[in-house]
Amino acid sequence: MAIHRQRLPDDAVLIIGAGLAGLYLALNLKPRKAVVLAAKPVSEGAASAWAQGGVAAALAAGDSPQAHAADTVRVGAGLVDPAIAQLIAEDGPGLVRNLASLGVPFDRDAAGEFVLSREAAHSAARVARVSGDLAGKSIMEVLVARAKAADWIELAEGKALDLLTDGNGEIAGVLAATEDGLTEFTTGEVVIASGGVGGLYAVTTNPPSSRGDGLAMAARAGAVIGEAEFVQFHPTAMDIGRDPAPLATEALRGDGALLVDADGARLVDHAEGELAPRDIVARAVHRAKAAGRQPYLDARHAIGEAFPDRFPTVFSACMSAGIDPRRDLIPVAPAAHYHMGGVRADAQGAASLPGLSVCGEAACTGAHGGNRLASNSLLEAIVFARRIAERLKDSDVVSRTAQSAEAPPRLPRADLAQLREAMARHAGVERTASGLAGLLDEISAMEARTGGANPLIAARLIAASALMREESRGAHARADHPETHAEARRSAMTLAEARNAAARAA
Ligand code: SIN
Repeated sequence: MAIHRQRLPDDAVLIIGAGLAGLYLALNLKPRKAVVLAAKPVSEGAASAWAQGGVAAALAAGDSPQAHAADTVRVGAGLVDPAIAQLIAEDGPGLVRNLASLGVPFDRDAAGEFVLSREAAHSAARVARVSGDLAGKSIMEVLVARAKAADWIELAEGKALDLLTDGNGEIAGVLAATEDGLTEFTTGEVVIASGGVGGLYAVTTNPPSSRGDGLAMAARAGAVIGEAEFVQFHPTAMDIGRDPAPLATEALRGDGALLVDADGARLVDHAEGELAPRDIVARAVHRAKAAGRQPYLDARHAIGEAFPDRFPTVFSACMSAGIDPRRDLIPVAPAAHYHMGGVRADAQGAASLPGLSVCGEAACTGAHGGNRLASNSLLEAIVFARRIAERLKDSDVVSRTAQSAEAPPRLPRADLAQLREAMARHAGVERTASGLAGLLDEISAMEARTGGANPLIAARLIAASALMREESRGAHARADHPETHAEARRSAMTLAEARNAAARAA
């Protein structure tokens, strides 16, 4: 296949991914040039557009960034970096106002104040929303329009496959599949903003293309990966046989919807009930389903006739499956929703390799620890996107000579289906050493057959990290290690270490 080489202008930053993190970063880079590389036409394919909740920020009278940071730390199972929690909480209100000034039509009350939703484990109503459950879609529409109009931003179509290096571990560009074959984009600054890993699991709320490409590319280049074992499972994906599974937003539970079985018995045994931290609710739903009790969300009394106006996205997904949530129970199941782990980034969004930065779901900044607080993801994405933009705007332009790379193989469709089933079974809501070791064997066998495709690399990192963490903490539940160690330890791993873990387990 033809390989073209395109040298980007000296001051250009190449951003992989056109979701919220990538576009917000590009918009803040001026006067430096931004080239945003995305696999799909720019308005499609990003998980950000599917976000129903909104942006968490201490905007209410009586709320404070301190309280928001404290909730973030409390929920994160001992692994949140308190300084990062404080940083995102402090930036939150200003950045939500900035999005509003760009044109995002956040819901407002008669006095012009933000209408805020309550979501699980927040001590206050704190989620700035748009038209009920349309925050992600609406924010992305505004940012895409702004990016298209910005003369310092170029939107390029192509699927990033691998990072280019200079041969000394410094990042020098990106190899991408483009319309006319393969293109090597060479530049001294690359930012991964390519989203998460939900598509590695059989049941996910993410776009199917979220298969850990950013994680795999960075790991192959030698970057440190943090907390890969921490995958958040959303407790209430709609269990209606669709792939991806439509989400029934947590804000429904914030408005009083209950989790019940077919007989109406409540599923969550916790002081905070349905608004307990997400890992606890996900395990309750998972265990009910595993025991043959189909879990349901009951919004009939709490929301009832207001459903179509309050939650138009969920309402239309329900109705398309023949479920009228004003009168019917909504069948639900946990689904892979968000990766708390990712490419390790410092407080400025810099990864461990020169020339590489990372933000959004692909990053592991210490903001989410073992269990992300609802709607902190969009907040973290814009906080770090802006920090990276501020840093790169003022930094010297670096030029490196890129070595050519070979495109990693594609994972055949049947192997992908096998991988997704195996990840759901062995690296899902509950894990065991034997299941994870078997999963790593399965990944190795696929790799021997098809080569090191990006989804296999990303899956290996998750499975190996999950095997190494011999305790239960946050979203990482080990049935064979139900205890939580007294000392909370952040995890970090390179791809070489993940391969060794597999060898040791064999
Ligand atoms: C939801 O609306 O339930 C999802 C919000 C989030 O994942 O932060």
